[in-house]
Amino acid sequence: MIRKATKDDTKSIAELHELILGDSIFVRLGRPFLEGFYYALLTEDRLAFAHVYEHEGRPVGFIAMAASHESFYGQIKHRAPVLAWSLIRSILSSPKTIGSILQAMGFLLKKGDLIKCDAGGELLQIAVHPDFRAHGDDGKPTKFFESTKSRVAQGLYLEAMKELKKRGIKDFRIMTGDGNVASNAFYSKMGAKKVESGIKIFGHPTSIYRANVEDSLGILHNTGL
Ligand SMILES: CC(C)(COP(=O)(O)OP(=O)(O)OC[C@H]1O[C@@H](n2cnc3c(N)ncnc32)[C@H](O)[C@@H]1OP(=O)(O)O)[C@@H](O)C(=O)NCCC(=O)NCCS
Repeated sequence: MIRKATKDDTKSIAELHELILGDSIFVRLGRPFLEGFYYALLTEDRLAFAHVYEHEGRPVGFIAMAASHESFYGQIKHRAPVLAWSLIRSILSSPKTIGSILQAMGFLLKKGDLIKCDAGGELLQIAVHPDFRAHGDDGKPTKFFESTKSRVAQGLYLEAMKELKKRGIKDFRIMTGDGNVASNAFYSKMGAKKVESGIKIFGHPTSIYRANVEDSLGILHNTGL
């Protein structure tokens, strides 16, 4: 079942984020930031929103989207006191990480301007627990996919597209690592167009995609979703 994420989901989403996107800079900012600030803001369902795929009562995948990247990153800066408090808690829980926390925070505050793509929205994160993906690490179908034929990421993407359409957003941008084979293949399959690649983010070559909501809906419709 796919549903809008609520405040009650922040813990589960933060856990999934840490498990699946462990090398993301957001994880460097610590659990108090992820759970107490980032996903708390995302599940407010105003400038940004998130959906979860729930299996047997627990989220096993999620998508997070900013309806307007300008307003979303502006809001992060606007909430500096709450952001600072979440980071202080992260530093207190792991003092040795202060250097990487400050570096990651500098990136977060600049991220909105780093992406040279003027699309309205931004796909912030999409992640599916390995057991619930279509492909395992060996490339073979997972047991979950074989028995259900459910495509978790595509289902989440569809709900996000419907929500963007409802909010009048026509296009959005995506940032992903050049070396992330699954996500690059997934975004291309969803019709997103690569507009830049090789941008160094903390030394990692990164690509920027631009996607159109109507085109994505058409592609998803043709897949039978
Ligand atoms: C990308 C991701 C969300 C896809 O999840 P999923 O539920 O398996 O995706 P779906 O079943 O809905 O769609 C599968 C499509 O994605 C692409 N894909 C997914 N995994 C792939 C892999 N290992 N190799 C190549 N293509 C892959 C293919 O286009 C595939 O279509 P196909 O089966 O017709 O080849 C998942 O691999 C994931 O969570 N990855 C880690 C998190 C991540 O990197 N997120 C992006 C951060 S920007």
